[in-house]
Amino acid sequence: MKIAVLGANGQLGRDVAAAFAAEGHAVTGLTHEQVEIESMEAVKPALEGIRPELVVNTAAFHHVEKCEADPARAFAVNGIGARNVAQATDALGATLIHISTDYVFDGMKQEPYAEEDQPRPLNVYGNTKLSGEHFVRGINPRHFVVRVSAIYGENPCRAKGGLNFVELMLKLSHEREELRVVDDEFVTPTPTAQIARQLVELSGSRHYGLYHATAEGSCSWFELAAAIFEMTGTRVRLERARPGEFPAKVPRPKYSVLENKALKSRSLNIFTPWQEGLAKYLEKREAAVTPS
Ligand SMILES: NC(=O)c1ccc[n+]([C@@H]2O[C@H](COP(=O)([O-])OP(=O)(O)OC[C@H]3O[C@@H](n4cnc5c(N)ncnc54)[C@H](OP(=O)(O)O)[C@@H]3O)[C@@H](O)[C@H]2O)c1
Repeated sequence: MKIAVLGANGQLGRDVAAAFAAEGHAVTGLTHEQVEIESMEAVKPALEGIRPELVVNTAAFHHVEKCEADPARAFAVNGIGARNVAQATDALGATLIHISTDYVFDGMKQEPYAEEDQPRPLNVYGNTKLSGEHFVRGINPRHFVVRVSAIYGENPCRAKGGLNFVELMLKLSHEREELRVVDDEFVTPTPTAQIARQLVELSGSRHYGLYHATAEGSCSWFELAAAIFEMTGTRVRLERARPGEFPAKVPRPKYSVLENKALKSRSLNIFTPWQEGLAKYLEKREAAVTPS
């Protein structure tokens, strides 16, 4: 297949491009510099020039505080940008995989969210991503809208200054004697490499629609930090933050664990428990820094 990846130099975009290329597909990566998704004048000719059969849109404005400060820009990228890509792919008869987020939920359910659960975003980021989902689902019938959560990968997250949570914890563990981490926000940390492989699987099916795509299980950020330090043998004093110790500047869901119900019902789910994904990531990281 001819495939175009938007957000191609991002944390997820790089792994997505690599996963499809590894399967022998002809992948064209499009960076922000090459295509501004806010602008149909940029999106249309870029995709027409490639004539892809599949487009994967990983591009987003997803820094939660910056989105809150600039709702118009957040909507322009996450809403109108998604609309532009949906219209351009529909006109080309191409399938669209559009990446969305667990932040479309408010976290009140306190048990894993399935695809049929009612979204109720708490912040501008979540609202604008939800608007993007609506555009995609309403415009291009050949769509996979894929919600992911708490992602981390080998490539830097551009919107978050490069360091994912795992790398941040390891860096801080060398700089401080004690680390205090929140224990009242629950997610499912998921490696981008696994998501990329899941998208390859999904793209081979015709079961278009809305999908949750996260590793199995869930943890608080404190529990994730504890697992990182245990698996790497890092010695640092790790404490639970007191309630309210780190007040969030923007409301966020306290519980945004997703259930891969649609993937499972179609026997497409490839995800493993989050601890396995983390162990693999850390092993690979260790191998990269240890000379053989
Ligand atoms: N990171 C998370 O924990 C998380 C959690 C849930 C969902 N998601 C979703 O996962 C997706 C990928 O996130 P990521 O972690 O890979 O983020 P990332 O590393 O920040 O990558 C996002 C990419 O989008 C590009 N981009 C931003 N605005 C654009 C625009 N207007 N036009 C074209 N390209 C633009 C960025 O380029 P520049 O940097 O050059 O602007 C970057 O290459 C996003 O849809 C995000 O909403 C992420």
